[in-house]
Amino acid sequence: MLRVTVCVSGGGTNLQAIIDRIADGTIRNTQIVQVISNNPGAYALTRAKEAGIPAVCVSPKDFPDRSAFNEALLAKINEAAPDLIVLAGFMVAVPHEICAAYRGRIINVHPALIPSFCGKGYYGLRVHEKALERGVKVTGATVHFVDEDLDTGPIILQKAVEIQESDTPEILQRRVMEQAEWIILPHAIDLIAAGKVTIEGRRTHIS
Ligand code: GAR
Repeated sequence: MLRVTVCVSGGGTNLQAIIDRIADGTIRNTQIVQVISNNPGAYALTRAKEAGIPAVCVSPKDFPDRSAFNEALLAKINEAAPDLIVLAGFMVAVPHEICAAYRGRIINVHPALIPSFCGKGYYGLRVHEKALERGVKVTGATVHFVDEDLDTGPIILQKAVEIQESDTPEILQRRVMEQAEWIILPHAIDLIAAGKVTIEGRRTHIS
């Protein structure tokens, strides 16, 4: 059984997709053992509790400095001893000590086709605002392993989504979630649980 910690910050629709796909058997051999939010008001925490999953908030505001927060976050994750950490809309740059302790065992979902519209400043709705501003005709989502830099780790899955003339950032965000994120994130977890994903340098191989 793959033991998963899911880290969240907001609405938690990706968390919900994972919960639902475990429940209906699309994700096999996997258990969410813990949900962690950096934001006490995150609706994702309610979703976790409703699904009977232990959910906690570790907020930077409760610690004197960043390194104390980083330490507490790592300690909280270690309590659950997960095999995999899933960043599902987690708006915190993963501290280096967590990257080091869980190398090759942290994945993130990003709402664009990396390497487009990613890196510093590209998160949440902003990603879709930038895609519309630039006038791209196709966008999508990416699931990738997390390394020390932002959105640079080996890519596991990507899915393209077409942009329409009348799109607003909100409409596009919803379409990218429905047509891409909520599909490829559960799929990636299922592949990892089945031992089918290996990292080869900057790339992944799926068997
Ligand atoms: C999702 O679109 C996710 O891809 C994005 O935040 C949203 C969270 O929604 N993540 C990033 O931008 C990370 N760089 P959710 O809380 O409803 O899953």
